[in-house]
Amino acid sequence: MIMNTANSFLIIGAAVLFILGIRLLSSPKTARYGNLVAAAGMLVALVSLHGPDGHFIWTRGWDLNYALIIIGILIGLATGAAGAYSVKMTSMPQMVALFNGLGGGAAALVAGLEFVKGLHMPLAPPWFIAAFMLFATLIGSLSFSGSIIAYLKLEGKLEKPLTFPGQNLVNSLILVLILGLCGWLAGWDTNPSAAGGFNLMFILALLFGVAMVMPIGGADMPVVISLLNSFTGLAVAADGFAIHNLAMVVAGTLVGSSGTLLTLLMCRAMNRPVSNVLFGAFGSGNTGASSVTGSAHQAVKPIQADEAAVLLSYARQVVIVPGYGMAVAQAQHSVRELSQELAQRGVDVRFAIHPVAGRMPGHMNVLLAEADVSYELLSEMEAVNPGMEHVDVCLVIGANDVVNPAAREEKSSPIYGMPIIEADHAKTVIVMKRSLAAGFAGIENHLFYKSNTRMLFGDAKASLNALVAQVRAG
Ligand code: TAP
Repeated sequence: MIMNTANSFLIIGAAVLFILGIRLLSSPKTARYGNLVAAAGMLVALVSLHGPDGHFIWTRGWDLNYALIIIGILIGLATGAAGAYSVKMTSMPQMVALFNGLGGGAAALVAGLEFVKGLHMPLAPPWFIAAFMLFATLIGSLSFSGSIIAYLKLEGKLEKPLTFPGQNLVNSLILVLILGLCGWLAGWDTNPSAAGGFNLMFILALLFGVAMVMPIGGADMPVVISLLNSFTGLAVAADGFAIHNLAMVVAGTLVGSSGTLLTLLMCRAMNRPVSNVLFGAFGSGNTGASSVTGSAHQAVKPIQADEAAVLLSYARQVVIVPGYGMAVAQAQHSVRELSQELAQRGVDVRFAIHPVAGRMPGHMNVLLAEADVSYELLSEMEAVNPGMEHVDVCLVIGANDVVNPAAREEKSSPIYGMPIIEADHAKTVIVMKRSLAAGFAGIENHLFYKSNTRMLFGDAKASLNALVAQVRAG
């Protein structure tokens, strides 16, 4: 009784820490603490797993295997720490994909083993507990295999989306087969011979994860990972119901709901329904690619670093719009140097952050924080756009789609309706990139051809270093 009460308090404590952690993660200022608080929540959840007598508290009567739990914790700690220290910021989505996949796989194994064990018991679990186990096995295994494919795509090992005629029909058939098997298995009383049907369902669920992600373009993987992350959360929550573990129910529900919200927010910021991400093969390189050359005959106005430095040095207000190219060039430290040089000269410098700039949520915030750019200098798109016409120079660094006025001007554009940073409304725009090549959406950028736009061609880091040198010398 005392142990159960203590266990309940620990679980409530873990839930509060998880929720607080997520709350703190919502601002770059407090995100580091958010991580620590959520990790502390996980520690409390682990402690809640056993009582001092060494038995599971939910009284199934099995002995707790401390050694296995400690080995698991040590492997998890070592892998997580090694990943966090060694993985480059640009490879973070890959790491999230892998870790999410492992979470989904673990949730599927827990539920699957419980289900198979139940088949050998004298008394079968009630049908709804069996349903939770089957749900967790299905969702967890498709999240596992889907995440592995997402990882391979992000690593560039599976470049082309795999599409074939009738693909959606084939995928739907696999899903119907899986659901049919689940319905049949949930109705089974204890009977070891049902294990064959269960194994088939498990294999089909793994196959379905692969079939679901294969046709999606590599650049859409962050959205897919976020969706699979919410699946993993749901699988963990279902595991919690199946094995009577409240901490898993709470943690799984939090991951499931936050993953779903993040998926919806990303899709809204790109002005695309989730269905378009899952079935649209957008970002695969074939969307609107032909239109890239459509305006090739139009002239752009190049600018050299010395002239750009003069424009920046004599500006009153400068807005910097970072994008994926800044991440590729690893130019965040050079951007900070430039912003400091300009600020020392009395220029009002701010950074405008688009919610889907880069390739993962918060990509730009993380890079700028790594370079010690003050959080106070970062503004969201909605805050910057209304005053953009008063901005003397808008410096676009490796951003493309998120400043493309086609989203406002061209109804037939795939990004029409996507909210953008209105860089073209500034008095002068300087776009820093290596060529006129398209960004993620594969479409031409109207901004390059505007009368107030100047193109500073070259690698973003090299161009920024040249700008810093010129501003200092000036
Ligand atoms: P993009 O539109 O992808 O454009 C990035 C640009 O960076 C490219 O046009 C490229 O042009 C340039 N670039 C690459 N390497 C560079 C370097 N070393 N130096 C200078 N420039 C370089 O980037 P964005 O504006 O940040 O937009 C993000 C896109 O990703 C959006 O379409 C968004 O919907 C999509 N997306 C975002 C997310 C999240 S969560 N952030 C998730 C999925 C999809 P050059 O080759 O000419 O240099």
